[in-house]
Amino acid sequence: MTNNVPNGSYFKRRLERMTDDEFLRLSLYIKEKYGLNLEGRQTMVESRLFNYVSDRGFNSYTEYMNALFCEEGEGEMANIINRLTTNYTYFLREQEHFEHFTKVFLPEMEQKITGDELCIWSAGCSFGNEAYSFAACMEDYFADRPNNWDRKILATDISRNALLAAKRGSYAKAAVEPLPRRWKKQFFIEHNGIYTVNERLRSQVVFKYHNLMDPINFKKKFDLIICRNVMIYFEKETIVQLIQRFYDATNEGGYLYIGHAEAIPAECPYKRVQSAIYRKE
Ligand SMILES: C[S@@+](CC[C@H](N)C(=O)[O-])C[C@H]1O[C@@H](n2cnc3c(N)ncnc32)[C@H](O)[C@@H]1O
Repeated sequence: MTNNVPNGSYFKRRLERMTDDEFLRLSLYIKEKYGLNLEGRQTMVESRLFNYVSDRGFNSYTEYMNALFCEEGEGEMANIINRLTTNYTYFLREQEHFEHFTKVFLPEMEQKITGDELCIWSAGCSFGNEAYSFAACMEDYFADRPNNWDRKILATDISRNALLAAKRGSYAKAAVEPLPRRWKKQFFIEHNGIYTVNERLRSQVVFKYHNLMDPINFKKKFDLIICRNVMIYFEKETIVQLIQRFYDATNEGGYLYIGHAEAIPAECPYKRVQSAIYRKE
């Protein structure tokens, strides 16, 4: 008798394993729309989606994708992108860029810029650590070189979750460890071991959604585009096209920083300055 009484899980529809065809359908769509190359990562994709799709009551990925692809708006797709993007980042990542930034880039811009604006873009900003690091560097640099430049950093991503966290700007004590003690005092408010960026630093960065597969239609061109550890997830053809869009959106004499683990194809129009640093002549 007792064994015949079904519990809740007996009635719950069981999500079937993701088939190769289902993986292909999803991964082709994600590659075309967001550039992310998921080839060979079926296990990772399934493990990141299984509980979510199962909890939504679907019993196959085909059923879920049918609902996903016919939905108007991007609400459900945003949930998938939040799960499929890799948002690993940390403060002052890749020190060489910060050295170039303060020793070469900013002094050059001081000579070059005749207007009142310095335009910097952190493309694929994840939780904001990258943009806040460069903003803090800039605040430090200009502390004893006052000028009237508007020098906000635009920071963009496709992960809505990452953008929300970036805007919040709250980080665990371990996360702010790489920052100089002086910066922690100048740019953060500490409460119960959580460090939150203060208004001075927050006001230097503007976070927005932007998909790097889309045309770049920002009002101004950039003096520096920072796109690090994003293109590792893209295929060569996607990178070639993205670099051309970056190039068209860069001011003459402006720079592109990429991740040190990344390579951009030889035919790219920028001139290589040093490892992971390129310039538009
Ligand atoms: C590994 S994180 C790198 C973060 C930071 N740039 C760094 O180097 O620490 C890669 C970020 O790129 C974002 N990304 C991936 N594809 C993108 C796309 N098509 N458009 C915009 N951002 C994208 C991801 O959401 C993720 O937050």
